[in-house]
Amino acid sequence: MNLFDLTGAKVLITGGLGGVGRGVAKAFVAAGAEVALVDSDIANGDAAIREIAAEGRAPLVIEADVTRKASVEAAVAQCLAAMGRIDVLFNNAGIIVRGAATEASEADFDRIFAVNVRGVFLFGQAVARHMIPRRAGVIINNASIAAMIGIAGSSIYCASKGAVLQFTRAWAVEWAPHNVRVNALAPTFLRTPFTAEVLAIPGREEQIAAKTPMGRIGEVADVAGAVLYLASPAAALVTGHVMTVDGGWTAL
Ligand SMILES: NC(=O)c1ccc[n+]([C@@H]2O[C@H](COP(=O)([O-])OP(=O)(O)OC[C@H]3O[C@@H](n4cnc5c(N)ncnc54)[C@H](O)[C@@H]3O)[C@@H](O)[C@H]2O)c1
Repeated sequence: MNLFDLTGAKVLITGGLGGVGRGVAKAFVAAGAEVALVDSDIANGDAAIREIAAEGRAPLVIEADVTRKASVEAAVAQCLAAMGRIDVLFNNAGIIVRGAATEASEADFDRIFAVNVRGVFLFGQAVARHMIPRRAGVIINNASIAAMIGIAGSSIYCASKGAVLQFTRAWAVEWAPHNVRVNALAPTFLRTPFTAEVLAIPGREEQIAAKTPMGRIGEVADVAGAVLYLASPAAALVTGHVMTVDGGWTAL
């Protein structure tokens, strides 16, 4: 058996047209998987879709809002109708609103928790309902090192990602008897549209790099391999795990 074989795997990626989603989708397609991308903003997705298709098979693209149950259920149904099953869910859609904790509004709180926590909950639940009876499936929740360390100016985001880690552990325990594995990814700062504003501040990237034992921020390619590993047969007994991809930051 090829421990890392993902040929023919059916993979659903939420936030699939963003920086991480696009990069991970490319890696799955290059590994022979069939990919469905779910995103609330598909209007500007053509370049991403072309880039992913260039690796092999063109992705299925589904417009949906992860914060709305009806939208999530419709997306999962559309994906199942097109692909027949879902082997891997990369629960990846996420947002951030930056600012001082004393100034953060209830609206900021509700927005961040709606996408980062409610969205992960709704998608995980909808897909697990399909995986459990099949006694097969892998869910990878995209958290962040912000779940494990404090980041000034990002308190609500940090709290939301902490919740993602706890969903990961609780689901891993609850669904292990059904052979459904659940793990989390915890990346450092990655170069994507999500961090463009922060990395545009003169000297900020150097500051982040200086805090990192390996001396640099991450690129999407740095996390793609970790996600593929967690999805692969090589990780058959890995569940409830938090995989940091952070250049050693949280090892300090
Ligand atoms: N970039 C980083 O430095 C970094 C580090 C650690 C963790 N993460 C996590 O990685 C994930 C992806 O981040 P990214 O860097 O690709 O960001 P991104 O902004 O490039 O992409 C996020 C994608 O999610 C989509 N999205 C937002 N709200 C949605 C909703 N309600 N329904 C469906 N889709 C929605 C957006 O349209 C976008 O395509 C997030 O969960 C983020 O918290 C990012």
